[in-house]
Amino acid sequence: MAKKKFQLVKGMSDILPQEQKYWDYVFQTVEQVFRLGGFKKITIPILEFTELFEKSTGQDTDIVQKEMYTFTDLGGNLVSLCPEGTPSVVRAYIEHGMAQWQKPVKLYYIGPMFRYERPQAGRRRQFWQIGYEVFGDGSAASDVEVILIFYQILEKLGISGFTLQINSIGCSKCRAKFKEELLFYYKGRLPEACANCKERFKKNPLRLLDCKERKCQKLVSLSPQIVDLLCSDCKGHFQEVLEFLDDLEIPYNLNPYLVRGLDYYNRTVFEFWPSGDGETSLGSQTALGGGGRYDDLVELFGGKPTPATGAALGVERVIQLIKDQKLKISEPSPIFVFVVQLGDEAKKKSVKLIYQLRKAGIGAESSLGRESIKSQMKTAAKLGISTTLIIGQKEVLDDTVIIKDMNSGVQETVNFNEIIDELKKRLPR
Ligand code: HAM
Repeated sequence: MAKKKFQLVKGMSDILPQEQKYWDYVFQTVEQVFRLGGFKKITIPILEFTELFEKSTGQDTDIVQKEMYTFTDLGGNLVSLCPEGTPSVVRAYIEHGMAQWQKPVKLYYIGPMFRYERPQAGRRRQFWQIGYEVFGDGSAASDVEVILIFYQILEKLGISGFTLQINSIGCSKCRAKFKEELLFYYKGRLPEACANCKERFKKNPLRLLDCKERKCQKLVSLSPQIVDLLCSDCKGHFQEVLEFLDDLEIPYNLNPYLVRGLDYYNRTVFEFWPSGDGETSLGSQTALGGGGRYDDLVELFGGKPTPATGAALGVERVIQLIKDQKLKISEPSPIFVFVVQLGDEAKKKSVKLIYQLRKAGIGAESSLGRESIKSQMKTAAKLGISTTLIIGQKEVLDDTVIIKDMNSGVQETVNFNEIIDELKKRLPR
């Protein structure tokens, strides 16, 4: 019988050893930005009750309608793999009494998310998000702080060539008025729209503005703009956000058609896009991340009314941009030695030496199979390790180790008990 060769499930990825440096770099950089910003880390589970997302992300959104990995568990509960982190963090905020904490409560999280989408460049079915949420501050300054954290992460990573797209979708009152105008505008034009937009017209009219189909883009470009219909409070809030950005000289593109694909937002919404000047393999409208204000969600989940705002960035997309822009990633390079041995007694001593080296913070590699000294040396060279420690029968009897510099060929014999001190003196830290 032919043996079955297993393959990745479509849309999933292995992150191979040679890729890890990018992930480490991104995670270390963001952790630093969050720590300096006074954010506390929260780790959320990957599974929640499906209802959590239906109620927040939105019953009629693409994510909930078509993209969730949903199943009934053995206890008969309907559960879903998280397609995004915000609903879980809001649930945790209420469940663990964080409303009692000093406000604003600032949390960040890093984790895999799952959406059953059509895989393509920058779009996976499992992908990683770095997200952050701020609870208890309804001011325009808080929106700006969230935008600045994102900006600072991109800057600190060394990424250039991105644009901040920003819009306000007002409060539920402004939005109701806008939806009416939008429906009125689209009603006569619906035959010109794509099949998806015909559905959106019925279920989620704001998403009409998000359609990427060329024939629909034409319709979008002439459609009413929500900024023209904001109530005076929402207008004032948005103006203040823009004034802050002007003051800080943060460039932005006022994008009247940015609505975001999730139901909970109000007022400020934003995304960061690659600038699309040919430097990236991502589409110029493929968001590196996005977020916005969601002042009604805590209350909707049974908490006290609490203004909130936050954002998330997609790690794969950010890494793609780092690669496209050929940024130099500093790799941590611990000092490394290769232990070469010959004979059974030498092998025993080598195992002990390797253990002691690693305990002392010195990286140690070896090849403990029955190989000749020559082939062990070759392995060390292939691994790019230039210092070898050699233990043969003589060294076992004398209780010594030979240190050999593979580049110069120079070697020296050192007492076994002094080897770590000797290495620390020689190797660069
Ligand atoms: P989102 O715009 O749905 O927002 O996702 C944020 C980012 O996750 C996207 O901009 C993108 O970089 C990445 N992303 C989304 N789907 C995929 C995918 N299939 N493959 C690769 N990357 C993807 C949220 O999720 C909100 N929870 C953000 C937020 C936090 N709003 C307030 N607080």
